Amino acid sequence: MARILLVISGGIAAYKTLELVRRLRERGHETPAILTEAATRFVTPLSVGALSNQPVLTDLFDLDREREIGHIRLARAADLVLVAPATADIIARMAVGRADDLATAALLATGAPILVAPAMNPHMWAHPATARNVAQLRADGVRFVGPERGEMAERGEAGLGRLAAPEAILDAIEMHLSRDDRLAGRHVVVTSGPTHEAIDPVRYIANRSSGRQGHAIAAAAARAGARVTLVSGPVTIPTPPGVTLHAVESARDMLAAVEAAMPADIAVMAAAVADWHVEAAAQKLKKTASGPPALTLSENPDILATISRSAARPRLVVGFAAETENVIEHARAKLARKGCDWILANDVSTGVFGEADNSVHLITADAVEDWPRLSKEEVGHRLVTRLAEALSDETR
Ligand code: C5P
Repeated sequence: MARILLVISGGIAAYKTLELVRRLRERGHETPAILTEAATRFVTPLSVGALSNQPVLTDLFDLDREREIGHIRLARAADLVLVAPATADIIARMAVGRADDLATAALLATGAPILVAPAMNPHMWAHPATARNVAQLRADGVRFVGPERGEMAERGEAGLGRLAAPEAILDAIEMHLSRDDRLAGRHVVVTSGPTHEAIDPVRYIANRSSGRQGHAIAAAAARAGARVTLVSGPVTIPTPPGVTLHAVESARDMLAAVEAAMPADIAVMAAAVADWHVEAAAQKLKKTASGPPALTLSENPDILATISRSAARPRLVVGFAAETENVIEHARAKLARKGCDWILANDVSTGVFGEADNSVHLITADAVEDWPRLSKEEVGHRLVTRLAEALSDETR
C-alpha cells in the first residue's frame, strides 16, 4: 500500500483519471488529490473524493480547509506524486519551478518521486517549448509515462498526445514504487550508449545506440538497492537517480573507466562499443584536390571479453548481442567467445534503436529464456530479478 498524491490538471483527459483513482484504490493505494482550477472544470472534487475516499484540495477551497489538511503536508507524506493528466501548462510551470497554485506548490515541496502522464494536443506536445520543458524535467529526475499516439478529442486530430492507458500508468507506478533491497550491498557496473571514435578534433565515428537499455538496467539495479556505476558513452538521456555516472567518449576510455570501477559483483555490458578506432589526426582534416583521406582503422579493445577474463572478474558478467538473424545461435557463440556468463540477445531486425521496446532472449550456458516484448525498463527490471536470484543461489 502506498500513498500516491494525484495532481490533476485541466484537460479533457481528466475524466480518465477517475478510472485511475478507482483502480489505484482497488490495489490498496491511497490517493489524496489536488485539482488545479482548470481541472475542476472537467471533473469535480466531489467525484474524485467519492471514488478515493481521501482528501481533495483545490484552489477553490478556503483557508480553513487548507489549515486542516495542508497541501505541503500531503506533498511531504506522499510515496509518489502522479500528475495525470499533465497539460502543457503545468509541465511548463513545473519546469521553471513555479508555485503559483496549490498543485505546483505541492510539486515543489515534495521529496517523493514524480511521475508525469502528459495529455495534450499533438501540436502542443511537439512544440519546442514543451520539448524543452520535458527535457528539463527529465534532467531533474521527473519520470514520464506516455503520451500515446491516437485520436484526439478534437475531431479529426490524431497524433502523439493522448494520455497513456490506465494499465501503462499503473505499471509505471508499480515499477517506481518497487524499491527493494535485493541487490543491497552489491556493486553493479553497467556500460551504456555508443562510443565516439575521433577521426580528427571535430569528426568522429559512432553508432545509433541511444543508451536507453543500459540506462534502464542501471536504474533497475539502483532501485534494487545496488551501488551502481554507469559508464556511458555520449547520450542525450538523463542519468537515472541514485546512479554514479562516468561519462566517456571512446572504447578505450570506456575500458579504462570500467577497469577503474572494479571490483564489482556484477557487470552488465550494454554499450554499443565501436569495433574500430581511427588513427586520429591531430588537426582537422582538409578537403584536398587529391580526394578524400584514407582512414586507418584499428581494432578496439573488447571490454566485455577483457573484463570476463580479467583477474578482477565480477561474479556475474552479462553481455548483449544485437543480431538480425540466427539470433540464438549467434548469441551462444558469443557467450563462448567473450567468456561471459549470460548474453541478452536482442533481435534488432525489427528496429530497436531508440525505441521504447525490446525483444530479447536470455542465454545462459545451458538454457535459453524467451522474454515477451517488453519495454526497456521492464527488461531492466527482469534482468535485475534474474541477477538477484543468481547471486543469492550462489551464496547459499
Ligand atoms: O561483438 P559484439 O559487439 O557483437 O558484442 C556485443 C557485446 O560485447 C555487448 O555486450 C557489448 O557491450 C560488448 N562489447 C564490448 N567491447 C567491444 C565490443 C563489444 O564490451 N569492443
